[in-house]
Amino acid sequence: MAPAPVSLRTGRASRRSFPVNTLWRNRGKAFLLLLTGCLGVLAAAPARAFDDAAADRVLQAAQQKLRATASDPQIPTTQYPKATTNGPWRLVPNTANIDWVQGFFPGQLWLMYEQGRDPFWRTKADAWTRNLELQKSNPDIRQITHDLGFKFMSSFGQAYRLTGDDAYRQVLLTAAGSLARRFNSTVGVIDCCDWNDGTWHVPMVTDTMMNLELLFWGARNGGNPAWNDMALRHALKTASDMVRADGGTFHVVDYSTSGSILSRGTFQGFSASSTWARGQAWAIYGFTMAYRYTRDPRMLQAAQKVTDYYLARLPADFVPNWDFNAPANQQQKDSSAAAIVASALQELSRYVSDPAVAQRYQSAALATLDSLASPAYLAPATGGGPGILLHGVAFYKTAIKPTGEDIDKSLIYSDYYFVEAVSRFKLWNQGGWLSTLGFPESVRGLGTGNTGVRIVEFDVTPLSKLIDGVIGYADTSTNVTAYSSLAMSLRMNPSGFFDVRRGGAYAALASVPYQANTTYHVRMRTDLNAKTYSVWVRPPGGGEVLVADSFAFRSDAPPTDDLGKVSLKSGHFDNEFRVRNHTVRAE
Ligand code: GLY
Repeated sequence: MAPAPVSLRTGRASRRSFPVNTLWRNRGKAFLLLLTGCLGVLAAAPARAFDDAAADRVLQAAQQKLRATASDPQIPTTQYPKATTNGPWRLVPNTANIDWVQGFFPGQLWLMYEQGRDPFWRTKADAWTRNLELQKSNPDIRQITHDLGFKFMSSFGQAYRLTGDDAYRQVLLTAAGSLARRFNSTVGVIDCCDWNDGTWHVPMVTDTMMNLELLFWGARNGGNPAWNDMALRHALKTASDMVRADGGTFHVVDYSTSGSILSRGTFQGFSASSTWARGQAWAIYGFTMAYRYTRDPRMLQAAQKVTDYYLARLPADFVPNWDFNAPANQQQKDSSAAAIVASALQELSRYVSDPAVAQRYQSAALATLDSLASPAYLAPATGGGPGILLHGVAFYKTAIKPTGEDIDKSLIYSDYYFVEAVSRFKLWNQGGWLSTLGFPESVRGLGTGNTGVRIVEFDVTPLSKLIDGVIGYADTSTNVTAYSSLAMSLRMNPSGFFDVRRGGAYAALASVPYQANTTYHVRMRTDLNAKTYSVWVRPPGGGEVLVADSFAFRSDAPPTDDLGKVSLKSGHFDNEFRVRNHTVRAE
């Protein structure tokens, strides 16, 4: 959310009226609007053609555009792309503290690095990432934006996820500490904006839901555990005060310093009572992300409520107008909202328990991607501008900003969430089990009766180098809540090697390094009577290497008499590794 020295339109402001003759002049558009509104129900339609080949085609196109921008001598690594049509990117400097977009270009470079581990992308991504470090703290609170989460999770967050380099984590923790300074503990929200003209007192915007990830993540990765509570409190205020009964959202809620609601309104939307499409997209993504970290059912409920509003009002091409309630003469597609939602719905579909609902969300995500990947939205490979997606809206013309800003443009955040959505599609559609950060979600049942001597085999693929990944085993009766719940553990350690838990520590009889995106076959022989196990790892093209020979079960694990559960536990982020073809059999 960018500053503008103008006053807020609130619920107390008068609503615009539209004379009948204006409506009549626009009757054709009004009819279309009605028709497309009705088509919202088609959001439940089965997925269309978006598939692996389409994903590869999009990533190829993205790679071409991003390589050109990253190699452009006119763009130094202290300048960051923001918006474009056919000309060059409009840039913002690393020193623009209150702008919110600088993480998205390096973030896309990291997503490119993830695809093939080409060092070109890592070098470029690192350069644009490091030049943002100067924003991690500031003695002047007015120079600390609530958008630090956008900027740091997309850049330093991706960097740490993909490299495990602790220097990035340290920067993230400092930035999280800065963001936490904006938390107003009386009201229970992160105050978004010091730059308004005095109309707002303690304002909260939907966008801030996205920034909470820096606090949720930081609290779990060496930062202050209180950051988690701050983020959850803010998310709960968003759910209770910003989401309407029908699932639409206000964009802004302003509180008094004692916490009472002074007004509900909008900043970038059409009116106080309308639903701004990108704000709704931030809510869908934000509540889904909050559920990922907290598993709080109120987050899942809120995510579904705002999603159901959005899906019920989508036009036939699954790309919404910039505001769901804008009149027929103010129709302008916003591909950024569609890209954000396409990414979020793939995640949300993994969390809902009703398979029909999960299918509906996943189908809508794929239909959206299908549309965005078509020539109607995907920029031509040659002859166009440097952006990936066409037809985004930063700020439509409203009373607050009569000239608007970046209407019908390629926007760096559209591109980021589109590339993320396509990367997620690739990640989540290749079968097998993915690791998670949380223990409860990491567990897969192996059935009862796995006693005596058992042989376990599987293929494991680290998805990054330098992860902290554990494949651990527990008794059927064990509630897996910590590493100490796991009697047997094979680890891909943060130094880049496989090792195995023996009694009170990890050890390895041979050094077997692991590489990202490389699949290793693992065989384990466990003797549940003797409480010992042996592990062999076979790198691709090589022979089996014995890394553990009759190692004792973990010394502080609970009694373990059967092989009832396997936990796939990431150390830093969800999806650090994938396990396929997991089998357990008697010897
Ligand atoms: N976060 C600012 C926007 O969505 O425009």
